[in-house]
Amino acid sequence: MSTRDSRALVAAVLLGLAAIAAAAESTPRLGRPVSPEQAATWDRSVFPDGRGLPAGRGSAVEGGPLFDRHCAACHGAGARGASAEELAGGSEPLTSATPDKTIGLYWPYATTIFDFTRRAKPMGAPGSLSADEVYALTAWLLFANGVIGERDEMNASTLPRVRMPNRDGFVGIDARPPR
Ligand code: HEC
Repeated sequence: MSTRDSRALVAAVLLGLAAIAAAAESTPRLGRPVSPEQAATWDRSVFPDGRGLPAGRGSAVEGGPLFDRHCAACHGAGARGASAEELAGGSEPLTSATPDKTIGLYWPYATTIFDFTRRAKPMGAPGSLSADEVYALTAWLLFANGVIGERDEMNASTLPRVRMPNRDGFVGIDARPPR
């Protein structure tokens, strides 16, 4: 190949690379478009004041059998702990060197139980529970911790009004970025 031919070849290769780069810029061709319906399945945050809670309802009466079926294998009968941690009861107060950080002793907001259960439970099939089932399980966990009665209905307006025993046990921080 003459010097002239090889220069032409290099130029052609560079042009080709530029064309590929331009195409890549307009469409990275990674993944696939997400529909609004799919995006909604990830947009599931429930805030302490209840924002984000869906329609639905449930009480501990319905939640007990659901807990036995979906949760007790790991968290134990009555949520007293097994291979996974206890979720109810506990005797060591937060002032102890080895406190029991159960829901009733530790969690400041009841709405977090709903958020976490809906997004992460049961461990092997997160997202599989209906809103009514999550309300019922949340109600049962609150009942098992002595926070509400067995027949108290939890829904989008009652759950944020449940006052947790350790509600004032946390110190707030000012999370604004420094100037
Ligand atoms: C296969 C075992 C397994 C099953 C079934 C399971 N969990 Fe869990 N769970 C765990 C483990 C392990 C942890 C601790 C690690 C973590 O937070 O993921 C945990 C943590 C939790 C916590 C957080 C506890 C805390 O104080 O941080 C809650 C609440 C909870 N599970 C509720 C449930 C509920 C409600 C169900 C049933 C719908 C359920 N779990 C089913 C294994 C399980």
